Amino acid sequence: MKKDYEFRPKILGFLCNWCCYAGADLCGISRYQYPPNMKVIRLMCSGRIDPQFIFKSFLNGMDGVFIGGCWPGECHYITEGNYLAISMIQVCKKLMALIGLNPERLRLEWVSASEGVRYAEVITDLDDTLKGLGPLGKGEDIDPETLKFRIETVMSLLPYIKLVERERMRVPLETEAAYHEYFASSEFEQMFQELIADKLAVCQIMALIREKPRSSAELSNLLGLPSSEISRHVNIAARQGMCRFDESKNLIAAAYHQDADESVAEAAAEVKPAALGNKKIDQIIDTYKGNPGALIHVLMEVQSENQWLPKEILTLISEKLDVPLGRVMQIASFYKTFRLTPKGRYEIHVCNGTSCHLRGSERLIASVQEMIGIRPGEMDADSKFSLETGNCLGCCTLGPEMIIDGAHHGRISPDKAQALLKNCA
Ligand code: FES
Repeated sequence: MKKDYEFRPKILGFLCNWCCYAGADLCGISRYQYPPNMKVIRLMCSGRIDPQFIFKSFLNGMDGVFIGGCWPGECHYITEGNYLAISMIQVCKKLMALIGLNPERLRLEWVSASEGVRYAEVITDLDDTLKGLGPLGKGEDIDPETLKFRIETVMSLLPYIKLVERERMRVPLETEAAYHEYFASSEFEQMFQELIADKLAVCQIMALIREKPRSSAELSNLLGLPSSEISRHVNIAARQGMCRFDESKNLIAAAYHQDADESVAEAAAEVKPAALGNKKIDQIIDTYKGNPGALIHVLMEVQSENQWLPKEILTLISEKLDVPLGRVMQIASFYKTFRLTPKGRYEIHVCNGTSCHLRGSERLIASVQEMIGIRPGEMDADSKFSLETGNCLGCCTLGPEMIIDGAHHGRISPDKAQALLKNCA
């Protein structure tokens, strides 16, 4: 008689050399039974885990990923790698939920070298959980093509996500419980939404419209996002010069879509000497003509001359330096130093580095936003204020800190900020 097919999840395990791997060894030597369907990769510390390992595992068909480390406080390195692992795993779980994967497919556990039984228990438990969830993608009702697209877009954003996790989301807490509390807080949720989820949505939209121009309804269907969200993300991308709206066809297209040579040509056609009208800028660009390696340098020099980088100038830089416009946009939109929107008469900068963050900069940013009616990266309709937030302004003991037109103001409360902004004539 034909036997029923039994699903055996494929699991990839990353074990810390000093504790979990030794625990696995003990488990084997002691002949404890546990599911044999996990392949193991040994790392020197659980803190070495990189989100690239996790998403690549899923992309290559793993149904679950296991990370095993030393118990908190017992990491063998002064960096306390297992706390870094908690932070990274939490961000990865949020990303998984965002792309529709069940976060339970990723498990972080602590197993010491003497806990052979515990190793057998956690692997058995993970195997049971994955059996309940079913194969990757199928269990979530996502077709393989969509799943591949979603994981690949996350992977393309990983360098940025790792930077954000390290600079903005990693907080010096001393207990595991404090970490879990922080990652469950609304403060983290908001930060994740603004810094990662929105960026990922823009990234997905760009990947889709790079294939071919699409309507807002089509994007909404493909990404499972409401149209209002699509419009919001498209507006952000358009403000940064990454996409454009073809009104005659009612389609959204990538600004530098190779297919749409016309779009690049159109953009180039818009470059009239009058639009630039600044001999100094022409001079800077001409100095580095045909030298693609000088791209960042040119962008910095041009920005210091013009205060911001309009699309016309970026197109000109692309042509003169012989760098594809897509690459120019990639660099200009990746580094916070570069401004793709004009500045207001008063440039407000609120520090959101770790120290200022812990001293309440989030509240300060929210109240400044409310007072002047714009979000970070925007300029108000009267061109009076523009608002920026940044990582560290170097005055951590004075946090939360705010700069208005180059003047530093320390220990700023929302009330003080209101008084200062009222003085801006
Ligand atoms: Fe084991 Fe760091 S050495 S988690």
